Amino acid sequence: MKRVQYRPDALIEVLHVAQESYGFLSEEILHVIARSMSVPESQVFGVATFYHFFSLRPKGEHSCIVCTGTACYVKGAGEIVTVLEKAYDIKAGETTPDGRLHVGAARCLGSCSLAPMLTLDGKVLGNETADSVLEQVRGLLSGGESGREMR
Ligand code: FES
Repeated sequence: MKRVQYRPDALIEVLHVAQESYGFLSEEILHVIARSMSVPESQVFGVATFYHFFSLRPKGEHSCIVCTGTACYVKGAGEIVTVLEKAYDIKAGETTPDGRLHVGAARCLGSCSLAPMLTLDGKVLGNETADSVLEQVRGLLSGGESGREMR
């Protein structure tokens, strides 16, 4: 939103980035966008529900979105994605057949200083390794805490 200077005409772009970042557009996210961009909530919800490429529900019970922008990629984001793909036998952008985990890849999420960074069930994690992410995802799927705090 900051990058587009909160311009209401950039609403669709902002919704795209939000969905890339969190995997879907929750009600809370839509409220924040409406408030921050001074766009009526009815318009934000209207746009989000009109276009089929926006999802208002999580694509899996848990969601891991890895930033694969340049800074994150250089610091190992590709390896993180590969490890998750192998561990759960899915490709980035897919959800496990049992619906428990969605793995996504996004372009720069705007926190390059945390590279490589990702969101795990919406929580931002930074300076991760493939092993640390896999450990956290496994913990999450076994009913543990949804990731550690940012390091
Ligand atoms: S490249 Fe990953 S946050 Fe910018």
